[in-house]
Amino acid sequence: MSMRKLIAGMKISVDGKIEGPEGYADWVEAWSEDYGLTQQIDACVIGGGMYPGYEQYWTTIQNEPDKPHWLSNRLPTKGEVEWARFAEQTPHHVLSSTLTSANWPKTRFLRRIEDISALKQQPGKDIYLMGGARVTASLIDAGLVDELRLIVYPLIAGVGKALFATTERRRVLELRKVEQLPDGRVSLIYGIG
Ligand SMILES: NC(=O)c1ccc[n+]([C@@H]2O[C@H](COP(=O)([O-])OP(=O)(O)OC[C@H]3O[C@@H](n4cnc5c(N)ncnc54)[C@H](OP(=O)(O)O)[C@@H]3O)[C@@H](O)[C@H]2O)c1
Repeated sequence: MSMRKLIAGMKISVDGKIEGPEGYADWVEAWSEDYGLTQQIDACVIGGGMYPGYEQYWTTIQNEPDKPHWLSNRLPTKGEVEWARFAEQTPHHVLSSTLTSANWPKTRFLRRIEDISALKQQPGKDIYLMGGARVTASLIDAGLVDELRLIVYPLIAGVGKALFATTERRRVLELRKVEQLPDGRVSLIYGIG
């Protein structure tokens, strides 16, 4: 049996930023799963920095899918409502040494980076690494991420947090797919050797 793949997805600007000074990527119009992953995954990995806000954001859409969201002031899109339902059914594994509780019953905590290797060896479909920046970069650094899916926005964001802000090690990627999306966005899929 082959090992489950760990696949990272990120929406980034041309200068590699994943959030602006407000603490989120205000240039992203919707937080739907736009990487084409939903059919092939049955688990999510997420960083301790991102999880509390993520849980709060998607709980609102689960409870009030037809009301404007407090963060964006707009109605959730169809894709966001679909992700909210999928997330409700899907185990989330939070990499954190400090967080101890979550409101979602299927959320578990992973305390060490080695726990990610063990998760990949369990039977199941592929695993979606949702972010944030530090966890994604450090798991790529540790050689645990098999694929990186980027949606690049036509924007130089300037001030903000870069995906690979502290990465020092060079890593060659294998370009697997390029697709032009609406509104000047580009989808890139890279294999990580
Ligand atoms: N543009 C996008 O597509 C996108 C997608 C997702 C997220 N984001 C942005 O990412 C931001 C969150 O990212 P973040 O970098 O602040 O936090 P993060 O990567 O979600 O979490 C970092 C935390 O994870 C824990 N951790 C445990 N082991 C780790 C390891 N080996 N390496 C790194 N962290 C480890 C640490 O928490 P403990 O101290 O608890 O151990 C650390 O503080 C959000 O604000 C969101 O805006 C953007």
